[in-house]
Amino acid sequence: MAGFTNAPTRAMALRFGASVVYTEMAGVEGLVHEHSRLTWQLLETLPEENGHVIAHLYGREPEHFARAAEAVAATGRFIGIDVNAGCPVPKVTQWGAGSALMREPGRIRDIVAATRKASGLPVSVKTRLGFGEGEITAFDVLHAVEDGGGAALSIHARFKPQGHAGPTRLDLVAQLRERASIPLLGNGGVNDSASAKRFAETTGVAGLLIGQASIGHPWVFGEIAEGRSFAQGEGHSSYLPLEEIRRAWLEHLDLELCFAEAIVAKYPESAPKLLPEEVAAIRFRVHLFRYGAGLRGAGYMRGRMSALNTPEECIRALDGCLECERRYRARRPI
Ligand SMILES: Cc1cc2nc3c(=O)[nH]c(=O)nc-3n(C[C@H](O)[C@H](O)[C@H](O)COP(=O)(O)O)c2cc1C
Repeated sequence: MAGFTNAPTRAMALRFGASVVYTEMAGVEGLVHEHSRLTWQLLETLPEENGHVIAHLYGREPEHFARAAEAVAATGRFIGIDVNAGCPVPKVTQWGAGSALMREPGRIRDIVAATRKASGLPVSVKTRLGFGEGEITAFDVLHAVEDGGGAALSIHARFKPQGHAGPTRLDLVAQLRERASIPLLGNGGVNDSASAKRFAETTGVAGLLIGQASIGHPWVFGEIAEGRSFAQGEGHSSYLPLEEIRRAWLEHLDLELCFAEAIVAKYPESAPKLLPEEVAAIRFRVHLFRYGAGLRGAGYMRGRMSALNTPEECIRALDGCLECERRYRARRPI
């Protein structure tokens, strides 16, 4: 997920039970044409991701995908390449990429074939059901991926105008699954064991992709994998022991610090005036909002967000939040 799933967040997902993770979306034009170091930065990984991370790319031209895919494969760090054919953001669709590709199955077929040939890696596609009830594109996209030699299709069970929220259409995913000769992975609205079970049982998909529910709540992966059902909707940690919450937060912050040190050393131009610990704090701030979901001290953290410029300041805010929650729990009737 753009803006969220950098290497530390993905490492947390793996530590908490995810089996595979996807990078943030990187544009093939940036990777190849403009030799944009900023785009390559999006594909940086941590060693512990080895064997589990897929590069998620967007673009339009099969030839550019091929060149980018060759370079991505040459890093030796990725187990596959995932092509975005579902992003609804105008910044992406105005170039005919993302969800705009859903109207061009022939182009998707060519992108998959070219990417596979150039990289030698398994290639998957992530798409949506279509543009609405009257324009369902997923079946044509499925056949295009199959014809191009794709390894899997991930289906976000919503239409493009819905963005990332609203009801999912599991009946359509089930129909898609019946027609698929390659593994179909399901996505959309999976935020606890109950919703995961419903999705899997209704559709028969081979796996589930979890998006928003994992931000600020990496526990969701293990809970779903083990069929436990403690999670209470998206990102709510209010049922977890405070020490466990604190341990996870500090673990994530520590990963951000390790990663920031590597990034600042390799891409000094990306944050010329910042120390690695400041970069780590600013990246971690993105998650604080969600880490506090369901906890009584969330407002305490949010109010201080823009002033959290070092790991120490982040830890003070986290501890302030946990103290509010601790006091609330002490007063709460059992
Ligand atoms: C902030 C944000 C960024 C996202 N970025 C991407 C992206 O880069 N590529 C992609 O395929 N989907 C992206 N998505 C969509 C999610 O991957 C997922 O399909 C969607 O949120 C539905 O799944 P969920 O209900 O589990 O969140 C993004 C969603 C959000 C909220």
